[in-house]
Amino acid sequence: MQTSGNTILITGGTSGIGLAFAKQFLQEGSKVIICGRRADRLAQIAADNPGIITKQCDITDASQRENLCNWALQHYPDLNILINNAGIQLAIDLTSPVDLGKVRNEIETNFIAPIHLTSLFAAHLKTKSEAAIMNVSSGLAFVPLAFMPVYCATKAAIHSVTLSLRHQMKNTSVKVFEIAPPSTDTELGHERRADKTQTHGGIPISEFLTEAMEGIRNDTLETVVGQSKGLRAKREELFDNMNSFTH
Ligand SMILES: NC(=O)c1ccc[n+]([C@@H]2O[C@H](COP(=O)([O-])OP(=O)(O)OC[C@H]3O[C@@H](n4cnc5c(N)ncnc54)[C@H](OP(=O)(O)O)[C@@H]3O)[C@@H](O)[C@H]2O)c1
Repeated sequence: MQTSGNTILITGGTSGIGLAFAKQFLQEGSKVIICGRRADRLAQIAADNPGIITKQCDITDASQRENLCNWALQHYPDLNILINNAGIQLAIDLTSPVDLGKVRNEIETNFIAPIHLTSLFAAHLKTKSEAAIMNVSSGLAFVPLAFMPVYCATKAAIHSVTLSLRHQMKNTSVKVFEIAPPSTDTELGHERRADKTQTHGGIPISEFLTEAMEGIRNDTLETVVGQSKGLRAKREELFDNMNSFTH
């Protein structure tokens, strides 16, 4: 896929992977629109990066998702790529009563919002000669890390939905990508860290970006980055082993 000449909407562009994608696509000659909840961050990013267009939006709110879509298509009718990137990651202990509000918020952010946004933009994207929907999943889509069970389940669900969407879009101009990052040093999960100076850990974001952009350029529809490849491959191997004796 060309990385220049596109008009791209990235959800969750105020930090981490979304912001890195935004700067990179802008540098490579695409028009970039980002959204997020934090107005101060959006203003700062717009000031620091002339060319990045910003829109405040909380993607957990269905009416804000609809407004985002209407606004984007009215002002940027050339829009040809949607990157469903925004996500949150909560530690949830399932052995005692959970805070259902938090659980629902995580599922709404990571799973329902990408489904809804995809469906809102799909008809428009199909009118473009080259278009894409890129879903950011995770290596944890393939093997869960037990202290964040809902997060991992949302990422497994996004992997599944991406397969179905790719099938539904197979006779259209819309390429459906899944990008599965490994642990990457961003702000993810900072809400649960008492010490805000502690980082997420993982590979530097520049390393993630290099491999992810290469996957996009080469039309690698499942771009599984770094250590996520091991999780993906191991699961396939287990699946093959478990099913080897059945027809
Ligand atoms: N970092 C990793 O190790 C890793 C690994 C695998 C997958 N991923 C995935 O990569 C994606 C990006 O995460 P990141 O690592 O870059 O984390 P991050 O630095 O925390 O960025 C998350 C972004 O999502 C936005 N966001 C969260 N809730 C939102 C909401 N309700 N409405 C609009 N925007 C919202 C945040 O913006 P506001 O706070 O301004 O709203 C922020 O821009 C996520 O889907 C994550 O699951 C990350």
